[in-house]
Amino acid sequence: MHYLFIEPNQKKSRIEKEVYGNFSEHLGRCIYGGVYVGENSEIPNENGMRKDVVEALREMKLPVLRWPGGCFADEYHWKDGIGEKSGRKKMINTHWGGVTEDNSFGTHEFFELCRQIGCEPYVNGNVGSGSVQEMSEWIEYMTFNGLSPMAELREKNGRKDPWDLRYFCVGNENWGCGGNMRPEFYADQYRRYETYCRNYGDNKLFKIACGPNAADYEWTEVLMKRAKDYMDGLSLHYYTVLGDWAHKGSATEFTEDDWYGTLYKTLAMETIISTHDGIMNRYDPEHKVALVVDEWGTWFDVEPGTNPGFLYQQNTMRDALVAGINLNIFNQHSDRVKMANIAQLANVLQSVVLTEGSKMVKTPTYYVFKMFARHQGADLLASVMDHCMVGPDGCKVPDVTHSASMSEDGKVFVTLNNLSLSEDSEIRIALGGRDIAEAEGTILTADYNAYNTFDEPDRVKEACFKDFKVENGAMTLKLPKASVLAVTLTLA
Ligand code: AHR
Repeated sequence: MHYLFIEPNQKKSRIEKEVYGNFSEHLGRCIYGGVYVGENSEIPNENGMRKDVVEALREMKLPVLRWPGGCFADEYHWKDGIGEKSGRKKMINTHWGGVTEDNSFGTHEFFELCRQIGCEPYVNGNVGSGSVQEMSEWIEYMTFNGLSPMAELREKNGRKDPWDLRYFCVGNENWGCGGNMRPEFYADQYRRYETYCRNYGDNKLFKIACGPNAADYEWTEVLMKRAKDYMDGLSLHYYTVLGDWAHKGSATEFTEDDWYGTLYKTLAMETIISTHDGIMNRYDPEHKVALVVDEWGTWFDVEPGTNPGFLYQQNTMRDALVAGINLNIFNQHSDRVKMANIAQLANVLQSVVLTEGSKMVKTPTYYVFKMFARHQGADLLASVMDHCMVGPDGCKVPDVTHSASMSEDGKVFVTLNNLSLSEDSEIRIALGGRDIAEAEGTILTADYNAYNTFDEPDRVKEACFKDFKVENGAMTLKLPKASVLAVTLTLA
């Protein structure tokens, strides 16, 4: 038996809804085919956006969407993606498959997509190959309300009113695909570019600087030392890669050792965040600068027979556990992590939906996001839980992970993962000084390598959870092996 003790009177930090965000890049079939099919498509759409995908994202309560990249962001020139579609300049997407990008999805289309989903837009600017003027004019185009060259251009392109834009990142992976810069050089570039990212009228930008690659702590040190006063957030990218970059392993064909190895690599997120947070605490003890984990998730070999530059991979119960583990880690660090964006929305890496022509499937990862949505905007609660270590030598992992929050209605919400492939877990949940009156929950459980296909889209799906008792003010439950659970507790 495991014991989870939650302190309902010890609210820690607010779990911002943006922690449940996503990322959509001009990469493979994420934008084209994944969310955007064009107004003339036979696939049901509204202004070119797939209705099935938009509906799924609304249901999942997607709060924020990052665009246009990724590596693509630092070679994207926004003026190529506005105006009459037939006249838009084409470009080569050199990072992702060398395909021709026709720019039919641009700024107006992105804001339209966010409007339909009901989510916040998060735009990533170009530092690597773009100018200060280009970035500055993009902000003016998107947010200035009045008489100005960019506002006039926007109106000419069919949009009189500016859009609301809060989240803006100045470059992407500028230590790598965004210009191979040293942290000292980027810190100065960041200060220069952000100066001209103006706040127009009531629109107040939340400016995010390009942060470290995984455990590159020097990058964080230098950025915090040289530029902390000019930023609201610092990004962090960490992917779960099982092997090395040349042999990442299959997304669907894997052994039990691969399962544990993947979860072990995922749990490194805890150390990575804690260490960056430690560095940030020295420069910013008041937590004015947020950590924005704007790329995370599994990265496996592409599905056999697909374009290697398109990063298309399937998604199993292993991915569901990766999502559940990471989301619990972000919740537990909600005093510093204010946004996170899984990579990516559709048909790329750890997607929440996959599409093929007019068909769409929701992945196991989708259900985890949907099940965890109640944490959005809730207060993290202090909690402790015992665990034991499971898995082979060299990649032992805790058998269970969790987080708990309280929403405005006073209900306590708990999310749990069982990482073990062999043991169900008995768990007793008790609260300090309060009784549990009622409980309800949803569970995601299936074979450890199960996944949804276009022919069998419902093999892995959330279900109502019944394997529990509420007695004497406490809840006792059985968490099946390799599962993810979300329970809502009503207090007496
Ligand atoms: O998500 C795929 C790529 O991973 C992004 O374009 C880049 O930022 C990262 O290296």
